[in-house]
Amino acid sequence: MPRRKRGVVLTAEGLKKFQEVKHEFEFQNNFGKRFTLEELSQRVNLDAITIRKVLNCTKGVDKRTLESLFLGFHIDLCESYYSVPDCNRRQDLREAVCVSAFHGRRQELNILDKWLSNDCSRLVTIIGIGGVGKTCLSSKLAELMQDKFDCIIWRSLRDAPSIDTLLISLIQFLSEEKETEIELPEKTSDKISLLIDYFRDLRCLVVFDNVDTVLRGGSRAGQYLSGYEEYGELFERVGELDHQSCLLLTTREKPKEVAFLEGETLPVRTLRLGGLNETEGKEILKSKGLKGSENEFSTLIKLYTGNALALKIVATTIKDLFNGHISKFLQQETTVFGEIRDLLEQQFERLSDLEKDLMYWLAINQEPVTLYELRKDLVTSVLQLNLLETLESLERRSLMEQNIVGFTLQPVVIEYVTSIRCQIPIAPLYSSREILVSTTKG
Ligand SMILES: Nc1ncnc2c1ncn2[C@@H]1O[C@H](COP(=O)(O)OP(=O)(O)OP(=O)(O)O)[C@@H](O)[C@H]1O
Ligand SMILES: [Mg+2]
Repeated sequence: MPRRKRGVVLTAEGLKKFQEVKHEFEFQNNFGKRFTLEELSQRVNLDAITIRKVLNCTKGVDKRTLESLFLGFHIDLCESYYSVPDCNRRQDLREAVCVSAFHGRRQELNILDKWLSNDCSRLVTIIGIGGVGKTCLSSKLAELMQDKFDCIIWRSLRDAPSIDTLLISLIQFLSEEKETEIELPEKTSDKISLLIDYFRDLRCLVVFDNVDTVLRGGSRAGQYLSGYEEYGELFERVGELDHQSCLLLTTREKPKEVAFLEGETLPVRTLRLGGLNETEGKEILKSKGLKGSENEFSTLIKLYTGNALALKIVATTIKDLFNGHISKFLQQETTVFGEIRDLLEQQFERLSDLEKDLMYWLAINQEPVTLYELRKDLVTSVLQLNLLETLESLERRSLMEQNIVGFTLQPVVIEYVTSIRCQIPIAPLYSSREILVSTTKG
């Protein structure tokens, strides 16, 4: 179990001792002039922000930090020179969604609990296709983690806040409004350093929801919108540096730093969120008042791969148009309509032309297809040359799935892609296999 650590602060006695010895040093080594923060920083081997924080005596710092500071002036750190600050648990979940009608996800919650509580993961990403339930799951997790963290903060990135705005709001909350905006360092990377200082002193859980909003469409997955690149620096430093907090991201697309740093035994982890299972999906459909046999419920859930939002949308339609009868909806053999189409379109439109080409090819195949088969069948040389990176990019955008047989798409995605085939600006990529597949599958 991680040690609950709130850091230590200088006591009045500790501060007095430090100031006295510092004056002596200034008198002997600096012509009586006060050391600047930079000079202090060089002498004690700590950055200026940390020194300022220590001498403010309000926020806890690592005990080793105090030891370095005192060592720089040849002072032994006695126990009476520091104490544990009085820090109550705090949380800011105003932007989190309400999870009163939450179903299932026990297995996913157990995994996340283990990563956060036992494995001390520093950067955790929940990735999945739109509507699958990332926001809902992370809200539930934040609720369950209340006793395990000193601070819990939830921020939605839906309106694409600048990183500085976000960092300022986090630092102000963590400092209990003691750090004012004017006093904060100007450079983004210094603000990130300050945030990580807080991440060392306090055990914080910070959730960034909808991270895909600051990522760029069109190019390869995981790149940032212009002006938002420093989010990458934040993710990288939170993932790499030593601290006791966790930054949890929810996103449809994986940021590139996460892809580079993640690993099953590393402090950077990714949970690929699939749909709800049959029992969980049935609970949502039944709560909407749908009627049908067990088989019909199961068919409907499989058609939408347990996507929570799609199930909610389709349930409303079945209620409105088919008097709640699942069988009547299934008879008309259309799964992509209205808001479900909008949801898929939002994600499809972010793809590069090569990714769209590949999506079309995967849709044509319908069944999982291996890399070997794909390579053999693609006749456009551009796509053939870029096949690996295009596949990897699609995989990072949650639109494509991979199982033991090969690469494939969800049934609704297949229907969507096939339905917009004529709008895709692709070079001819027909091959004998495509003709064969489309003929045999009608
Ligand atoms: N476990 C669940 N139990 C009940 N409802 C759920 C569950 N998971 C998701 N939902 C519902 O499904 C809808 C979509 O969920 P959510 O917003 O969490 O998806 P998302 O993956 O975050 O989507 P997006 O990529 O658009 O942000 C919401 O209305 C939510 O309340
Ligand atoms: Mg969401």
